[in-house]
Amino acid sequence: MKILGIESSCDETAAAVVENGVSILSSVVASQVDIHARYGGIVPEVASRQHLLSIIPIVQKAMGDANVVWDDIDAIAVTNGPGLAGSLLVGLSMAKTLSWAHNLPLVGVNHLEGHIYANWLTDDVPDFPLICLIVSGGHSDLILMRDHGDYVRLGRTRDDAAGEAFDKVARVLGVGYPGGPAIEKASLSSENSAAYPLPRAWLKGTYDFSFSGLKTAVLRLFDSIDAPKPSNDIAASFQEAVVDVLATKTVDVAQKYKVKRVIIAGGVAANKLLRSTVSERCPIPVSCPPLALCTDNAAMIAACGYFRFKAGQIAGLTLDVQPNLKLG
Ligand code: KG4
Ligand code: ZN
Repeated sequence: MKILGIESSCDETAAAVVENGVSILSSVVASQVDIHARYGGIVPEVASRQHLLSIIPIVQKAMGDANVVWDDIDAIAVTNGPGLAGSLLVGLSMAKTLSWAHNLPLVGVNHLEGHIYANWLTDDVPDFPLICLIVSGGHSDLILMRDHGDYVRLGRTRDDAAGEAFDKVARVLGVGYPGGPAIEKASLSSENSAAYPLPRAWLKGTYDFSFSGLKTAVLRLFDSIDAPKPSNDIAASFQEAVVDVLATKTVDVAQKYKVKRVIIAGGVAANKLLRSTVSERCPIPVSCPPLALCTDNAAMIAACGYFRFKAGQIAGLTLDVQPNLKLG
């Protein structure tokens, strides 16, 4: 069964064709990172306009790269939330139009659920029950997943998401944009990642996270040091602090719920220190998506759409965007 996936929730316009929820036939992503870099963050209006320019050629390329025609496609899966309303509308309108024109079933996919399903696009498909750490620009959640579509949220961030903290700290340190990869790169040039003992918010007795105190501590530390500022050492100390909390809570919750697998998902799952720290500390098998599938893409949406389609979860043409859509 072949699913065309479409994703446009933030600043990446993406389309992909995936077979049986696990094999990528094509995956095309048009990134707007260079456009938003000059503003130091995503400008929603600019993002929507750019999606409009990219969406048709990107879908055409995904179909061409997969070497398929419309008769080969079984359903269209599209992200309908959470995300930026104007951005989501472009992908959803495209998907609805194609669904109507080619008489294909339409499947709405939650963007976060899509991130989880990036873990199905590997040779090592996860078993249930599992714990998923979702860490992106907008979310930091610990989810117990008992089966396809069965989610229990055990922890969440009480303020900034992990990716948001990376982005804001990168701006303070002036190390580049987007913040996550920039902090990771700056940290590689540090010779002492323990140079600055930064605070960790443990929020004992919960699986919740909080990163805003850490972000403020970095800001104060940075302001208190005379130039030349040791940005690389501060970046590395910050990265250590975030990864320490994410890894500790993930390993604890996985042991408590005696799951068979731990998976990591979302843009921050591309962070190599996070991947290696969770894998080293966790006695339960850990999987992470391939690096290119951690950040926003449409292959993950098509993979998730396959399992939803198989479960009969087909949306009508009344499907609308839900910028605050929740998981489960
Ligand atoms: O999942 P994603 O592409 O978009 C959202 O759904 O938010 O995640 C983007 C976030 C950004 O905050 C970005 O800085 C962060 O993921 N990120 C990283 C890395 N690559 C992307 N954070 C830490 N290390 C990375 N290598
Ligand atoms: Zn995302």
